[in-house]
Amino acid sequence: MKKNIEKKGSMLSSSRQYGIQDLRANLFEKTKGSTLDKINSFTKFAGRQNIAKLVAQYEMLMMTKNVLGNIIEGGVFHGSGLLGWANLSVSLEPYNYQCKIIGFDTFQGSKGVTSKDQSLSNIKRREKEYNANNYEDILRTIEVFDLDRPLNHIKKMEVIKGDISKTIPAYVKKNKQLTVRILHLGMNLYKPTYHSLKNFIPRMSKGSIIAIDGLNHATPGCFEALKENLEISKINLKTFDYYPNFSYFVI
Ligand SMILES: C[S@@+](CC[C@H](N)C(=O)[O-])C[C@H]1O[C@@H](n2cnc3c(N)ncnc32)[C@H](O)[C@@H]1O
Repeated sequence: MKKNIEKKGSMLSSSRQYGIQDLRANLFEKTKGSTLDKINSFTKFAGRQNIAKLVAQYEMLMMTKNVLGNIIEGGVFHGSGLLGWANLSVSLEPYNYQCKIIGFDTFQGSKGVTSKDQSLSNIKRREKEYNANNYEDILRTIEVFDLDRPLNHIKKMEVIKGDISKTIPAYVKKNKQLTVRILHLGMNLYKPTYHSLKNFIPRMSKGSIIAIDGLNHATPGCFEALKENLEISKINLKTFDYYPNFSYFVI
């Protein structure tokens, strides 16, 4: 079995693209302007894939416009998806206090790899993959995010640390009012995906969205988890032509 190459970003990137990402990082470091100038001109440094991801998140937000509920990000990693949802939500629906953005992660990388995740010949899923070890950083990011948003006396974001297979059932049990509008799962593993679907689906109304990363490509365990929770022929499983990493369906 070949070594898992999904360590620098995405296994979807070719070696040439990894080289381009390095050039982009170098450009960010060496180019003129303060850090703030660079943040304010982030489109100068972000790749087309980063922009496409944000646009796909925007589309899902629009598809679920006025659907009641929170947005769940299962698997936070460095926070691009989590803060993507949060920034889009406060920019487009500044007064929607009924839509919270909740991230779940071990913050210590993958947990719960099973044989169901190992059926692809070219990827070996392993424990502690994608270990960003950044729980405190994400909390600090949320503190700064909260400083400049409407209704910032009402909590908008939350992150729950620990193995999703345990934290999500406990969270759902504790939060009896909870409804979900978008459930985005990017752990790439059967077990946490299974528990997320099992616990959140009963909290999702018609029109809400479930998105799972790379279903027909690199995550056999996630497809298995989906099959065990829903009848595939009853859903319209789709992707975005410009950002196929998201597989999704509208309930
Ligand atoms: C591919 S990354 C997620 C990428 C992220 N959605 C983004 O937008 O950049 C996978 C994440 O899932 C987390 N993860 C894997 N297994 C987990 C589990 N059992 N419980 C909680 N988090 C888990 C990892 O720690 C990692 O941060």
